[in-house]
Amino acid sequence: MKYLTPGPVQLPKQVVEAIARQPPFHRTEEFAEVFREVIEKLMSIYSATPVIIPGTGTLAVDVMVHNYVDPGDNVIVVVGGEFGERLVEAVEARGGVVHKIEWSYGEAPPPDVLEDMIKKVGEVRAVAVVHNETSTGTTNRFIERYQDIAESHGATLLVDSVSIFPVEVFKKKVDVIATASQKAFISPPGAAILYLSKEPTAKMPVPPSMNLKKFLQFLKKWETPYTPPINVVYGLNAALDYILGMGIEKYHEIHRERAEYLYSGVRLEPIAKKPFRSYTVTAFYTERAREVIAELKKHGYVIAGGMGKLRDRLIRIGVMGEISFEDLRTVVEVVNSYVDRQW
Ligand SMILES: Cc1ncc(COP(=O)(O)O)c(C=O)c1O
Repeated sequence: MKYLTPGPVQLPKQVVEAIARQPPFHRTEEFAEVFREVIEKLMSIYSATPVIIPGTGTLAVDVMVHNYVDPGDNVIVVVGGEFGERLVEAVEARGGVVHKIEWSYGEAPPPDVLEDMIKKVGEVRAVAVVHNETSTGTTNRFIERYQDIAESHGATLLVDSVSIFPVEVFKKKVDVIATASQKAFISPPGAAILYLSKEPTAKMPVPPSMNLKKFLQFLKKWETPYTPPINVVYGLNAALDYILGMGIEKYHEIHRERAEYLYSGVRLEPIAKKPFRSYTVTAFYTERAREVIAELKKHGYVIAGGMGKLRDRLIRIGVMGEISFEDLRTVVEVVNSYVDRQW
């Protein structure tokens, strides 16, 4: 089977080889050296402080919210799909007061909508937004402008970039980015990754396992306060060599080309409007999602269906990981032949 899913993704061979090892004791110079290499490689992709915490993308988002929001704070959350809703849940779990900007699926609210909302709410502690809404294959390409707006109103920008970083890397400073190892970082699941451009600001206690201040203290000696996801760190090291060896611009470009190939080849309507189309996860409407997915499985490909209220109404094809144009060509042929047959 080949995985053209929103993640975990098809891993390059060298990443699989790197994780297949006895985990060393993490309080050693040997491991600190590997950890330092990974942190430095992460920094060469985006200039902010990377933090690695054992866990999922959801944990990365929870950590981000808990460390920058206090109970009772006003938080604006941009919602255009399932992961926007989960962001709402995360803020509410911290006791934040959510002010939603609900937007049509497949698009993102222009910056002036955010500015108006901040003015309406008044004192805003943070703005939380999903960079790539995985449930609809939609990328919000206004993030850097949101940052300027949030900053000018004294709010922190919290970005869930779980399913796209580092395929689309910001050119400017963004306060806090939450992502994970198993998607565009082409590694196994297990590492929540955050990029901090701003020191944690929460005043109320944060659970120890999620406390960024602790992680930042230990980072000074290339360690983590608790056991790190050791084998995932080895995988990340190999994956980062692969990504940096290609160069971050080329890495973006190959994903864009793969995604464009699907957008122009698949005879189904993408959910995302053109400027918002994702280059990591494509999503197309079809009432025959289950059958298309089953048909592709027979050909050796795993793709995803919809989520939440779109569960059986779309197919999602991920283009991250070790996949070729030959794979994409087969997927397009199978989807189209099936679509033609059924309609
Ligand atoms: C945008 C986004 N945020 C958060 C998550 C949650 O990640 P995880 O499943 O690792 O908890 C995902 C997973 O698909 C995602 O796509």
